[in-house]
Amino acid sequence: MSTYAKGLEGIIAAETNMSWIDGTKGILEYVGINIDELAQKSTFEETVYLLWNGKLPKINELDEFTRELRSHYRIPDVMKERIARIPKEVEPMHMLRTLISELSFYDPNPNDNDVASARQKAIRVLGQAPTLVAAFDRSRKGLELVEPDTELGFSQNFLYMLNGKKPTDTMAKAFDICMITHADHGLNNSTFAARVVISTLSDVYSALTAAVGSLRGPLHGGANEGVMKMLNEIPTIEDVEPYIMNKLKNKERIMGFGHRVYKAKDPRAKELQKLAKQLAEDTGNSDLFLKSKKIEEIMEREVASKGIYPNVDFYSATTYHCIGLQLDLFTPMFAMSRLGGWSGHIIEQLSDNRLFRPKAQFVGEHNVPYIPIQER
Ligand SMILES: CC(C)(COP(=O)(O)OP(=O)(O)OC[C@H]1O[C@@H](n2cnc3c(N)ncnc32)[C@H](O)[C@@H]1OP(=O)(O)O)[C@@H](O)C(=O)NCCC(=O)NCCS
Repeated sequence: MSTYAKGLEGIIAAETNMSWIDGTKGILEYVGINIDELAQKSTFEETVYLLWNGKLPKINELDEFTRELRSHYRIPDVMKERIARIPKEVEPMHMLRTLISELSFYDPNPNDNDVASARQKAIRVLGQAPTLVAAFDRSRKGLELVEPDTELGFSQNFLYMLNGKKPTDTMAKAFDICMITHADHGLNNSTFAARVVISTLSDVYSALTAAVGSLRGPLHGGANEGVMKMLNEIPTIEDVEPYIMNKLKNKERIMGFGHRVYKAKDPRAKELQKLAKQLAEDTGNSDLFLKSKKIEEIMEREVASKGIYPNVDFYSATTYHCIGLQLDLFTPMFAMSRLGGWSGHIIEQLSDNRLFRPKAQFVGEHNVPYIPIQER
């Protein structure tokens, strides 16, 4: 007996040891550890190790993992030349999707799909993706590229390559928390895309490329850009109420609210809300935070009964803005972090693979006569 669930809602399509979500209570765990605890105590590198290995690393294991990741920070010279030739107006997500695919050109064995090889490719892409994003951003602004610094951790190094100066500890920590909180989230659309592609025994680059393509959609990772655009469209806190009420009246969606799985406040939003508040105060952007709080209050009053609450994108927008990131880099930040989750799922899929091949319910007609073209 087959049942049809539009959007595969409620269908279990894979097993994972990585993240667990209680959408009603608003709980997220990675390998059984609460996301709040990881956000406060862990680092992005340690979190990725946890996701890929199902356990927290010992000191020497984390050292080795970090060393390997840093050894991949550099991109081949030919990629730098390639980046210099990309038109300035190209959206960074299109750049990232294309260049992650192109990384396969510089891998002598791009198709190797045993788990050990997949893991090596994954760590290489994880190390190089921030360099691609930072290099493209500087290139489009006509700035000199900044070589990665292998003495620096993932988040510090990215902000250093982007801005040409080392970030403050607060900024680096805030960014790292964003990376931790976005790293994995069950069988979301982009993760599913990665698992579907790798299940054909295609290759890691193809699977990650598909995932980046999925993530850029406004109903998925693209929502954080939508949140920032909305905050910019609302001139003052007094304008929030009419703006939101007008959108709701016209049945428009408010970006950064609602989630297919959470029917309570997204736990990642809670963590990012604290960060956004602090960073907004520190960087003179308190108006953004106050407008966000007001939007949340109105949405609570108007649509909480439908299970619509802030999701991860709502406060990550203010956080990224306060860190100084340009709007169109918000979704690439999500991608850089989620590469950790996608790769973990690719490894899980390869470890116990079965080709994804669902069925479609045919709703068309049968026995339709073929009419010659002149008679149509
Ligand atoms: C994420 C999302 C696609 C999940 O949608 P879903 O599970 O399919 O929810 P539904 O489309 O069934 O919506 C249920 C109800 O809530 C409303 N709703 C859902 N999201 C809403 C939003 N962001 N703003 C206003 N109303 C919303 C719907 O209009 C619908 O109302 P109705 O029953 O009166 O018609 C959706 O909430 C959305 O588009 N959010 C905005 C984009 C976003 O922030 N995405 C990031 C996700 S991490």
